[in-house]
Amino acid sequence: MPVINYIEANGTEYSIDIAEGVSLMQGALDNMIDGIVAECGGCCVCCTCHCMIDPAWVEVAGAAGAEEAEMLEMIDSRSETSRLSCQVKVTAAMEGMVVHLPESQY
Ligand code: FES
Repeated sequence: MPVINYIEANGTEYSIDIAEGVSLMQGALDNMIDGIVAECGGCCVCCTCHCMIDPAWVEVAGAAGAEEAEMLEMIDSRSETSRLSCQVKVTAAMEGMVVHLPESQY
């Protein structure tokens, strides 16, 4: 299982094994990582699973789809590497990927 490194806004780091095909959001929730709320349960309608892919990993993570991109525009704190973590499914190529979590999901 690929190891994904989540870094909270306060600097706390978590290295978590996540099965391929599982979303970054679900991996965070399953491991009780603060910073991902995921109110809609992964339906791409709440934006409370916002994360920022580390710039070194953006290509591996891929681009947001049209629906996700539309939702991302509603997030004031978004950056160029922002994604909704429910829409990013873990792959083998993501071994060691770094994901930053925002200070707040609200
Ligand atoms: S969990 Fe709601 S948009 Fe990702």
